[in-house]
Amino acid sequence: MFTQRGDRFWTYEEPLRFFGVELGRIMSVMKLSSGGLFVQSPAELTPELKRALDDLGEVRFVAATSKLHGHLYMEQYRAAYPDVELLAAPGLAARRTDLQFDHLLGDTPDPRWGTDIDQAAIVGHRWLTEIAFFHRPSRTLILGDVGFHIGERSPLKTRLVARTLRIYERISPPIELRLTITNEATFRRSIRDVLAWDFDRVVPGHGEIVDSGGKRAVLDGYDWLLE
Ligand SMILES: [Fe+2]
Repeated sequence: MFTQRGDRFWTYEEPLRFFGVELGRIMSVMKLSSGGLFVQSPAELTPELKRALDDLGEVRFVAATSKLHGHLYMEQYRAAYPDVELLAAPGLAARRTDLQFDHLLGDTPDPRWGTDIDQAAIVGHRWLTEIAFFHRPSRTLILGDVGFHIGERSPLKTRLVARTLRIYERISPPIELRLTITNEATFRRSIRDVLAWDFDRVVPGHGEIVDSGGKRAVLDGYDWLLE
């Protein structure tokens, strides 16, 4: 089920329809130096997925990217792995009052995953703060809704909508997220922090993974902000 993309790094892609448009979503799994697994944007924990995960290692941390992205199914991981720690993105704890979170994600990684994974809060938007992750061993940047990347493999309708939203063959937030950035200088600084990481691969929140040349792709996708 999982595709190994780099050193101790796997992804699982599954369909996701949003207002009738097929966007797809991506779950990332990283094996920490300590042996446990760090899961970002968890997919539904079907018996098949659970078996595949358990083959990779013990699930220790499950992280959401934002209050909107990557928090579905967290309750299934809590039920299946009683010792798992659920990591909340800013604003998520207030939305998912059914869950008890163990940790609130910010700019600084916890030492238990910080050897392998760095993180940064992307701030400056009116209502969305997202946590970007950088997996060092595989040189992978992992984004959520600030990094849509719809490509030519998507269905026609998705491609048409993506062009309108300015996320077709471009790593970028959809246009309405761009237009609701309230502090552009702060947002730009966040993206520059992300660009300071030594990544080559980019896992977008929705769309196609960029396996190499990812830094150029982010620079190009964010030309509206960085130039
Ligand atoms: Fe999303």
